[in-house]
Amino acid sequence: MSLYNFTDLLQVAKQREFKALGSFNLHCLEMLPAFFKAAEKTNSPLMIQISTGTAKYLGHRLLVDAICSLSASKNVPTCLHLDHCSDLEAIQTAIDAGFSSVMYDGSHLPIEENIANTRRVIDMARPRRVSVEAELGAIGGSEDGKVVALEEIAFTSVEDAKRFVHETGVDMLAISIGTVHGLYTGKAHIQHQRLTEITHATGIPLVLHGGTGVSDEDMRLAVRSGIEKVNVGTEMNVQWVARCKQTFEKGKVNDSVRNFLVPANDAVTDVLVEKIQLFR
Ligand code: 13P
Repeated sequence: MSLYNFTDLLQVAKQREFKALGSFNLHCLEMLPAFFKAAEKTNSPLMIQISTGTAKYLGHRLLVDAICSLSASKNVPTCLHLDHCSDLEAIQTAIDAGFSSVMYDGSHLPIEENIANTRRVIDMARPRRVSVEAELGAIGGSEDGKVVALEEIAFTSVEDAKRFVHETGVDMLAISIGTVHGLYTGKAHIQHQRLTEITHATGIPLVLHGGTGVSDEDMRLAVRSGIEKVNVGTEMNVQWVARCKQTFEKGKVNDSVRNFLVPANDAVTDVLVEKIQLFR
């Protein structure tokens, strides 16, 4: 089975009565079985996203081969997406290696430059049927080592979003509406009214970043108001590391390392299943 781009995978999700796709950050290869187990348990298609740090660590080829192989053997329609990338060359590398979706993140640039670079990425991606996500506004928090401080957060304006989509023809747009990347110190305040207005103004799938720590109620509401891709990263990492700490602490050095990892993966599967159910 070949990989799906976002647009085609969303179609499959809708046929299976999901309103949105979760896009889940894979932090290490060992975690991969947990992702497919969650997809099988929920009869959901699967969107796996890779940070540029993880892509560098594991290598694009290994990721593409492993994920294609599992997608085929488990019969799970799967999209492999490059998360936040501002480097056009690195995006080309991912496309050449077989990623089926990419995110160009030009949110730190003036809108004209963000538009121009997003169009370049679309020109690179379209001939290969690779979907393209872009970002407008600045989402707070820490993602793959990059920090956006509280005072740098900029919510996406309705007018800018409309213009951006019109001038780029991008497939999906990440917007800043109150979520942050990483762990929250307080409660997330999602701006549902802004989301509804951007949905009406753009007419394309919108992406919610910083899914970790968003309440179930907020998540359901966001999905009903136009969010069709929900990024979740930190939450799986937290569960995996917490469980590993417990099992490694208790285990002996000659126990198979697999015995330490299986409970950690079970915890990740539980998180994913819980999230996926919210998107129905
Ligand atoms: P969290 O780590 O906060 O869930 O955000 C993930 C994300 O948005 C990746 O792009």
